[in-house]
Amino acid sequence: MLKGKAVVLGVTGGIAAYKAAEILRGLKKNGADVAVVMTANAGRFVAPLTFEALSGRPVSVDLFDPPAPGGMEHLTLAKWADLVLIAPATANTIAKLAAGLADDLMSTLALATTAPLLIAPAMNTRMIRHPATEANLAALAGRGVHIIKPETGALAEEEEGYGRLASTESIVRRASELLLPRHDLAGRRLLVTAGPTREALDPVRYISNRSSGKMGFAIAVRALSRGAAVTLVHGPVSLEIPAGVHAVAVLSAGEMQAAVKEHLEASDAVIMTAAVADFRPADPRPGKIKKGGTDGMVLEMEATPDILGGIGRNKGRRIVVGFAAETSDLEKNARKKLAEKNLDLIVANDVTVPGAGFESDTNQVEMFTRTGRRIPVPLLPKEEVAERILDQVASLLEQAEEGA
Ligand code: CTP
Repeated sequence: MLKGKAVVLGVTGGIAAYKAAEILRGLKKNGADVAVVMTANAGRFVAPLTFEALSGRPVSVDLFDPPAPGGMEHLTLAKWADLVLIAPATANTIAKLAAGLADDLMSTLALATTAPLLIAPAMNTRMIRHPATEANLAALAGRGVHIIKPETGALAEEEEGYGRLASTESIVRRASELLLPRHDLAGRRLLVTAGPTREALDPVRYISNRSSGKMGFAIAVRALSRGAAVTLVHGPVSLEIPAGVHAVAVLSAGEMQAAVKEHLEASDAVIMTAAVADFRPADPRPGKIKKGGTDGMVLEMEATPDILGGIGRNKGRRIVVGFAAETSDLEKNARKKLAEKNLDLIVANDVTVPGAGFESDTNQVEMFTRTGRRIPVPLLPKEEVAERILDQVASLLEQAEEGA
């Protein structure tokens, strides 16, 4: 499917360099033509010959070397590429890209190309969490560089933690998407909710729940790149609003319900990832509640409106997707919610699984459809989980159209 697509695979000097061989094979298997560029340090981890044999092309390392027979010099490579993928990307290479340095072949090529740039960082946890690296990655993201977040797992020198190169599968998939952007949601209007809600107790206190909004934001970003027009109704989160998304900020469940109502009519599909508070203080006070010498208090709570339930009752031909955060009996509870709220799809996760749910960058879910299908999704970055959910939404929208 990637026939005719040209990829420059940049390999930099980290312990994960050997995984670049698998990435190269994955890209070749999908039909891409791949030319490998290595930094001098990468050559200390894996010999260029490995990549030469796998790619069937000469490997370039030095800016000043004349190209080998069949090879290209750096500006030609920069023009030839439909995608430049740097995997693994070390802290040093990321810093050079962020600063716009061009002191070797790889950095010069990255500066000279107009092709999309995709980088897969891999390094020690302390290095990736260092404010310098975080700032460099944020600067690159702000410039439109695509970044595949690393995973948590075994690192070099018997360490464990965040910073391990993303899986070969997700790197190849992301590269393929950039080479062949899917537009299966073109013309569709999606309404997505995300984040927690805040229910005021008084002007200084509130009741809320653990939710970062990452899952909903990932869905919004990926839906946009698949061609959808996206309205994102979000509670209080500390995430950057994605460019191109129509974002509506709300605080309470009541406000979220009003915003959803306003945008419902103009939507073809609704995806409710928000962790809406189920209860709110029955009698929020206009002034700050004082301790007043007592050593306890009883709080009376009332139910918030069930936003999703309301949508399900009047869904028309709209596709409605709900989420279920569970701590036990995942399938039973999810199917019950699917039926009770009249949904087309429910995305359920067991929030007790390590790495799944709430503030995590990854999630592991199971999806259930109205027609009884069960679609398990393994532990993946939330962006990848978002793609799997959107695959289902795209096909449900298509089926609804065919059935109409
Ligand atoms: N939801 C909603 N309005 C609420 C509460 C939840 O729209 N007041 C939505 C959530 O966005 C999610 C789905 O309903 O998509 C499931 O939420 P969850 O809290 O897991 O389920 P509940 O129906 O509230 O059931 P319970 O808390 O008993 O598990």
